[in-house]
Amino acid sequence: MTHMALEERESLEERCNRILRNMEASLTARDRVGIQDFVLLDAYTSESAFLDNLRKRFHENLIYTYIGTLLVSVNPYKDLDIYSKKQMDTYMGVNFFELPPHIYALADNVFRTMLSEFNNHFILISGESGAGKTEASKKILQFYAVSCPSTKLLNNVRDRLLLSNPVLEAFGNAKTLKNDNSSRFGKYMDIQFDHRGGAVGGHILSYLLEKSRVVHQNHGERNFHIFYQLVEGGEEDLLRWLGLERNCKNYRYLVQGDCAKVSSINDKSDWKTVRKALTVIDVSESDTEHLFGIIASVLHLGNLKFDADARGYATIKNNQEMHWVSKLLGIPNQVLQQGLTHRKIEAKTEEVLSPFSVEHAVYARDALAKAIYGRTFNWLVNKINESLANQDSSRKMVVGLLDIYGFEVFSVNSFEQFCINYCNEKLQQLFIQLTLKSEQEEYELEGIEWEPVPYFNNKIICDLVEEKFRGIISLLDEECLRPGEATDLTFLEKMEEKIGGHPHFVTHKLADKNTRKTLERGDFRLLHYAGEVTYCVIGFLDKNNDLLYRSGKEVMQHSKNAIIKHCFPSSEPDSKKRPETVVTQFKNSLVGLTEILMSKEPWYVRCIKPNESKQPAKFDDVLVRHQVKYLGLMEHLRVRRAGFAYRRKYEIFLQRYKALCPDTWPNWKGTPAEGVRCLIKHLGYKTDEYKLGRTKIFIRHPRTLFATEDAFQVCKHKLATRIQAKYKGYRVKEGYLKQKEAATKIENCWRGLMARKERERRAWAVKVIKKFIKGFMTRHQPACIDNSEYLIYVRQNYLTRLKENLPRSVLDMDSWLTPPPILKEVSQLLQNIFVRHLVRQYVREITPPRKAQLLLKAQTSSMFKGKKENYPLSVCRPFVETRIALEDINLKVLQTIKHEHLKYGVPVVKYDRNGFRPRLRQLIFTQEAAYLVEETKIKQRIDFASLKGVSVSNLSDNFLILHVTCDDIKQKGDLVLQCDFLYEALTKLSFIADKQSCINVVQGSVRFDIQPGREGFVDFKSGQESMVYRAKNGHLMVESTRTR
Ligand SMILES: Nc1ncnc2c1ncn2[C@@H]1O[C@H](COP(=O)(O)OP(=O)(O)O)[C@@H](O)[C@H]1O
Ligand SMILES: [Mg+2]
Repeated sequence: MTHMALEERESLEERCNRILRNMEASLTARDRVGIQDFVLLDAYTSESAFLDNLRKRFHENLIYTYIGTLLVSVNPYKDLDIYSKKQMDTYMGVNFFELPPHIYALADNVFRTMLSEFNNHFILISGESGAGKTEASKKILQFYAVSCPSTKLLNNVRDRLLLSNPVLEAFGNAKTLKNDNSSRFGKYMDIQFDHRGGAVGGHILSYLLEKSRVVHQNHGERNFHIFYQLVEGGEEDLLRWLGLERNCKNYRYLVQGDCAKVSSINDKSDWKTVRKALTVIDVSESDTEHLFGIIASVLHLGNLKFDADARGYATIKNNQEMHWVSKLLGIPNQVLQQGLTHRKIEAKTEEVLSPFSVEHAVYARDALAKAIYGRTFNWLVNKINESLANQDSSRKMVVGLLDIYGFEVFSVNSFEQFCINYCNEKLQQLFIQLTLKSEQEEYELEGIEWEPVPYFNNKIICDLVEEKFRGIISLLDEECLRPGEATDLTFLEKMEEKIGGHPHFVTHKLADKNTRKTLERGDFRLLHYAGEVTYCVIGFLDKNNDLLYRSGKEVMQHSKNAIIKHCFPSSEPDSKKRPETVVTQFKNSLVGLTEILMSKEPWYVRCIKPNESKQPAKFDDVLVRHQVKYLGLMEHLRVRRAGFAYRRKYEIFLQRYKALCPDTWPNWKGTPAEGVRCLIKHLGYKTDEYKLGRTKIFIRHPRTLFATEDAFQVCKHKLATRIQAKYKGYRVKEGYLKQKEAATKIENCWRGLMARKERERRAWAVKVIKKFIKGFMTRHQPACIDNSEYLIYVRQNYLTRLKENLPRSVLDMDSWLTPPPILKEVSQLLQNIFVRHLVRQYVREITPPRKAQLLLKAQTSSMFKGKKENYPLSVCRPFVETRIALEDINLKVLQTIKHEHLKYGVPVVKYDRNGFRPRLRQLIFTQEAAYLVEETKIKQRIDFASLKGVSVSNLSDNFLILHVTCDDIKQKGDLVLQCDFLYEALTKLSFIADKQSCINVVQGSVRFDIQPGREGFVDFKSGQESMVYRAKNGHLMVESTRTR
């Protein structure tokens, strides 16, 4: 599990715990202070019980109570600590009835229903003026601002939604006797959500601003907030630029109510909020300037005074104010003055200026002020809508918030109250239609057993007001449009004439004696659903005509002020064509509103005012009882109580919950009604919990539905997992198949490629082999195409093989590779070269001593090779310098021969010439002679010059006979010697004495001189063993074994 998921889970757990704690707390709270949902009230038909519950809770600051899903809210007139972020979090995503009643619970429920059902909703907030409607709508908006998913972009929209409120309130709200922040216009606001629930945009419709307030306020009331905010909060520079002073008392339009300052209103800080909000909703700097220019110009207009000239015509008295109005609206002073004091009259072909009386001029001035303000207000609403406009055109869901001026009754009620109360009448009608009427009709239609709940249907009053030709509105319009002298009083008479008998209509003239006392002559009284209201008929025609003389309009068209220019386009339809009257416009806009609302799912907040003095903790029983009555709450409760909290068409119900029953999932084959029957049987609904109608299922208690919904939510996840698994499997399989196909393709290509390569290789091999065989067959022919390559190959092959198998030494020449026939000659040449190379190499490695030795050996070889039998044995025996060390030679002897340079000495066996006795002797060669030495004595010196020859046998013995020239008989004869180092000694001798040619190899026997003239013989033969003896014939017999 990822870290985040863990965190989420923890917070979920925490949240569950919190909810549980809250639920427990709310359970005990419920025991203590009344009942959270009137549906659970035992005496549900008793108004007193209803009131008791409301009062009990109100005194515990529990201002919210449900009637089913309808929220009843009682204005606490004090700040309660129940609108914190923490509270919002608590109510987010929790089932409606799990927590104590709250406006947040309703908002959250609407939001979640919208997301799950993908449809549009509206919240109708009703109640009389000051009951808390506007506050409620703000709380809902704030809740959405916090609870909706947020991104940078969405936050931007959220801020605009939130901040459009203070701006609209500044320009459209005012202090009245009923409410210090009373909405003087109707407002319907759409909040647009995307499918994830992100607030992506909004749109505002405004209804009939009470413009008359701009120029007139009753005692205790104020003009629209913005005027006071500007004067109180405006920066010094700004005020100077607008020509205003920081004192409301200086402005006639602000002082009529005599309450410019109110403790509950902080104009200064509100001003700051409005300034900031204007930038957030994208009103440019220059537009803001123009906007305040207009507000200031209205104040200046109010201070304009008129004097009558001699003829009684109006002239403008204070030129200073004129200057400011003309500056701020960007209209030349002259044009403006004329517009305010004259009227244009069309006379056949030309226009004539007709001057005003003072009274007329004041009227025209006020009309202009109202028109300017009214149209600027509309401009502002459009501006806000531009900034709230959702850029994305994909499908949106909508929650509409209707916060419209509440039912109001003053001591003097005029045209505005008539419109406002008519509006409330219409909304009450809508409420009745959607709840009491249609609901009961539906039970009947669906064939559900039902005992009708009686209720007062205010349609009769609506008809009285709006019916074509006969309704008050028709009569008023008729009177306004009628040629001739129509006045407010003729209008009254007309009403008396046309609708005199209506039970909800009374006038002074028509009333009975008692009632007449409460009515003035110019009054008419309507019995509204919410109570009686006496209207003073004075001003009705004027206000309905909303007359702005044409000249006034034309003057405005000269304006350089961008907003005024926009509000008074020169292309305005010709005033000759009668514009619709105010009340008709209003009526039409209400029809439009009803259409908008009827297309959406309704939710209700019913606001109740606990007292008339705006005081906390004061619960006026009479007042509240009255509201409970006319709001139809008791009837609503009875219908709810007897009826069903929830109903859906079989198809829709089945579609949503079919996953909860194995028989209906995934598809039900029968009719939807049967499917639902099967489904609820599976779910174990008890018989008193539901009813099955003709086309719909009706579920009595919300908890039944909630249980089902909860089960569905759980099941949905399981299903989603299954579907996801299937889908993932499918995707993976698809991917796998694709990969497999691709792999096969690649394999095919690869194999093809390899096969082609193999084929090429084989073709090549065949060619090569063919060529090879042909070459082989024609190898003996002279070079031609067929064998050239073969021969090259053979050559190359032989040469490379040869290179790797060369003999290591000259003696190894037998291992020379046998050449192919064509290379015989080459091979021979190469072999020769190689031998020479080896020899050369060998020779180079020879050291000088070894070279000397080898020279000797070569000489030995030339003397004995192939001549004497044991010669081969000698080859491997290296020669040495001498066999007798100097110190082994007797000193005396050495002394004697030293001067001749000692060359070589070797021990020998000398055989006496007579008797052949063997004797050990040293044979020493000097540069000049050979000496036979016996210890200290030189026995014989043989000068090399006298050395005649040397004989050796051809056999394996080691005998040598030195022949000396001997003429002197005293001289000793030839020497018969045996020497183990025969070859060495002889070679040395031949070398020292240069006696090579004197050395003879003989066969059989050697004759020698014993002494001159007397000869002896040495016979040589091969025998079984080596021996030397004197033979019978007197010869020395030397037998030697054969050398193999
Ligand atoms: N929930 C509330 N908590 C505290 N004060 C409230 C609450 N609702 C209304 N009020 C007080 O009542 C006054 C009038 O409420 P408002 O919503 O303007 O009435 P309406 O719009 O119905 O005429 C507010 O200015 C405020 O002081
Ligand atoms: Mg309001």
